[in-house]
Amino acid sequence: MEDPRPLIEQLPKGKHAICECGQTKNAPFCDGSHQGTGLRPSIVDVDDTGRTIAWCTCRTSGNMPMCDGSHKKLWKNPPPPKPTT
Ligand code: FES
Repeated sequence: MEDPRPLIEQLPKGKHAICECGQTKNAPFCDGSHQGTGLRPSIVDVDDTGRTIAWCTCRTSGNMPMCDGSHKKLWKNPPPPKPTT
């Protein structure tokens, strides 16, 4: 299981394209990989001198693309340990 915790980032003033398709190689930002999926990035406009944002990486947030704490539910039910050989 990938680490479901949010990515905390300080964003500078300006518009930022946030990936909604899950295909980007530059998370949380759109890199154009959504082409052909029918999905588009969310545009976040930071209108002050900058803002600290918690980006959802678990894709269970009810407030995409921002974290709403839903990842905590994933930690309460971790997958079983891998069997040893
Ligand atoms: S790469 Fe995912 S929305 Fe653009």
